[in-house]
Amino acid sequence: METDIKLAIQHIDKKGFLDIEVPKTIDLVAEIKRLKKEKNAVILAHYYQEPAIQDIADYVGDSLGLSQEAEKVEADIIVFAGVHFMAETAKILNPSKKVIIPDLNAGCSLAEACSAEDLQAFKDKHPNHLVVTYVNTTAAVKAISDITCTSSNAKKIIDSIPLDQPIIFAPDKNLGDYINKLTGRNMLLWEGACIVHEAFSIEKLLTTHKKYPNARIIAHPESEAVILRAAEYIGSTSGLINYAKNTDALEFIVATEAGILHEMQKEVPHKKLIPAPAKEDNTCACSECHFMKMNTLQKLYICLKHELPEVTVPEDIRVKALKPIQRMLELSAK
Ligand code: 13P
Ligand code: SF4
Repeated sequence: METDIKLAIQHIDKKGFLDIEVPKTIDLVAEIKRLKKEKNAVILAHYYQEPAIQDIADYVGDSLGLSQEAEKVEADIIVFAGVHFMAETAKILNPSKKVIIPDLNAGCSLAEACSAEDLQAFKDKHPNHLVVTYVNTTAAVKAISDITCTSSNAKKIIDSIPLDQPIIFAPDKNLGDYINKLTGRNMLLWEGACIVHEAFSIEKLLTTHKKYPNARIIAHPESEAVILRAAEYIGSTSGLINYAKNTDALEFIVATEAGILHEMQKEVPHKKLIPAPAKEDNTCACSECHFMKMNTLQKLYICLKHELPEVTVPEDIRVKALKPIQRMLELSAK
């Protein structure tokens, strides 16, 4: 067993997680709860995580809520059940804590679409522009940004910038286009997109709506403009959950990653939630983020047990990346 672990540690960078066997007799939930206490750890999870992970987490939230929560953590270890940029943000905000993630390869198509080198070259071409980046970016990209935003505060952040100040918005062109329309701005948009939200089919969505004519279509702003035009409400994951909770409608067609349905259904057990259909036929008839789903309960258990893989950020990058995140958090609190 000891040699298995040593070998797995050697391969962790390639594999992304400690690939060791867990006896079938182990009660993962009970063991995770025990280890959490023993090691003084907290689990922060995004709404797109598998239900079993959401259920065992100390806090489940959207990107903004998770950052605010991560900053406040007093425990020694943060187990981040989300994607890599989220765990990095937690480390940037709370560097004295050990931040671990069940699978290091849990990336994001938006973060991948925008390297620091490419963004720097774009900035150099537009030197009078302010750079606003969505939090779905690497620490290195945040380090060369002026301010970050999430889907729940993007409008507020952009509205805080003087109207005559030109802006580069990266990397999500769909969110950027939506905010341009909302604010009447003409921000320069980076050509990035979320593969999960671009997977929705407008034809299938309208067919589903015909089947459930009383259902409200609600969508995440990472979705394409054609989907957003059909939506009655557009918001972040927590915004979508609150909308389903606080409106009288009894049926909703939900255009975001299907993991959200778990928490949403808990909040509105009497309401019907229909996942928006994807262009390609697939087994879930919905859209799932394969990055988010790389984290499993078993990987979370192994990660907490061995405190690996750890998410680290070089100190010079961390210090620079902290500034735009802090500016965002200060503005969000107002
Ligand atoms: P929010 O949870 O902030 O709405 O963002 C969704 C997302 O893209 C997570 O990857
Ligand atoms: Fe990235 Fe989209 Fe997955 Fe969110 S749902 S982590 S934006 S790929």
